[in-house]
Amino acid sequence: MNTVKTVRELRAAVARARSEGKRIGFVPTMGNLHRGHAALVTKAAQRADFVVASIFVNPLQFGPSEDLDKYPRTLAADQETLLQAGCHLLFAPTVDEMYPDGMGVQTRVSVPHLSEGLCGASRPGHFEGVATVVSKLFNMVQPDLAVFGQKDFQQLAVIRALVRDLNLPVQIIGEPTVRAADGLALSSRNGYLNEEQRAIAPALYRSLSAIAEAIVSGNRDFSALIANANQQLSTVGFRPDYLEIRNALTLRPATVDDRDLVILVAAYLGATRLIDNLHLNLDSKA
Ligand code: PAF
Repeated sequence: MNTVKTVRELRAAVARARSEGKRIGFVPTMGNLHRGHAALVTKAAQRADFVVASIFVNPLQFGPSEDLDKYPRTLAADQETLLQAGCHLLFAPTVDEMYPDGMGVQTRVSVPHLSEGLCGASRPGHFEGVATVVSKLFNMVQPDLAVFGQKDFQQLAVIRALVRDLNLPVQIIGEPTVRAADGLALSSRNGYLNEEQRAIAPALYRSLSAIAEAIVSGNRDFSALIANANQQLSTVGFRPDYLEIRNALTLRPATVDDRDLVILVAAYLGATRLIDNLHLNLDSKA
């Protein structure tokens, strides 16, 4: 696996693979990779012949009070993870390579509606930063397909809309969330949790599962389900940011007649903000 740092080297390597008739798969990341990221690369390797991953901690998607400087940079370990998962080329650009004229004058891509509410409400500008960097990366790599984690459910919806609205010729694949044995969704931010917080953290997924079970058994009192779960999360030590039941396709607040639902949560444990979700399609046999 080669690592390149410039757009020029990236384009040359991808052009070589294309000239050999290879289908290009792409996995964008911010590094500090775990088994969840490895699963994205494995999926890309199953669907494409040449897999490109990127590691770029994108300042444009971090708010002024967020953890940009603290975000772990673990390049050597990440290269090993990518290699083992079947990646062929790593693009690891600097901020200057991505934003040569500075971020102030950078053209932005914004996806209305889907970017609003949920994480968009707590993190103003976040999805514009994501949509902008993903658009740039897609133009640099020009992949046939790209794989994203379903853990970032709203991000995946924003990227699907971006691709559709801008007619980008990239197939978007959503890969299921990888969880620890106790149910906690794998995330780079789990590394910030101390031992006590790590023991509490699985309650997040338990609360999603409890809501899902209640809905499956016919309960449609969404506000009571949410109030009850928020109460339980607070009792064990979380500070809930949002907990909502939405239509999985539109991300609009779910109505009692909706069949394709997603329950989304963001909550703080100390200073660490964890997110998770559970997709529940009441018409699906699985
Ligand atoms: O999900 C992430 O790691 C990032 O938001 C992404 C998609 C790599 C864009 O910076």
